[in-house]
Amino acid sequence: MEQTYLMIKPDAVQRGLCGEIVTRFEKKGLKLIAMKLMVIPKETAETHYGEHKGKKFYDSLIAYITSGPVLAMVWEGDNAVQVCRNIMGKTNPQESAPGTIRGDYGMVTGVNIIHGSDSPESAKREIGIFFKPEELCSYDRTLDKWTYE
Ligand code: RTP
Ligand code: MG
Repeated sequence: MEQTYLMIKPDAVQRGLCGEIVTRFEKKGLKLIAMKLMVIPKETAETHYGEHKGKKFYDSLIAYITSGPVLAMVWEGDNAVQVCRNIMGKTNPQESAPGTIRGDYGMVTGVNIIHGSDSPESAKREIGIFFKPEELCSYDRTLDKWTYE
């Protein structure tokens, strides 16, 4: 099964949206593998968002993502990376469809609620940045036989 790295960003933690957001992934049928509330050290943020170094929004992105606690998570499921990106909605919340997380809760790109890996390769890299292998829980769920054919 595919895994993805999701992170509820500092704005959503401050606004008390963690429970609502986690519920959406649970209800979809994805399986929670790991979860940790943490303030990201600046160096870790720079590693995570390294692909954006040099872009005009990079400094404000690093300041934003390190501005308070984030809820770091690993979720698992069939095609989990794309399924979670669909649930999150487009990067710019003003273009995200209603019913998506960013579409329902966000107003601007620079404060957009949640991060999700953009490919299985990114997911592996990002999970490795935020979690030790022993922090990932492997378990069966009785409900899975009612979730997948
Ligand atoms: P993320 O990595 O956070 O899941 O978001 P994403 O894939 O949808 O978008 P990405 O292009 O990777 O951008 C990373 C984050 O940088 C901020 N951003 N600001 N002001 C801007 O033009 C701008 N563009 C991107 C957003 O917080 C975005 O989620
Ligand atoms: Mg991205």
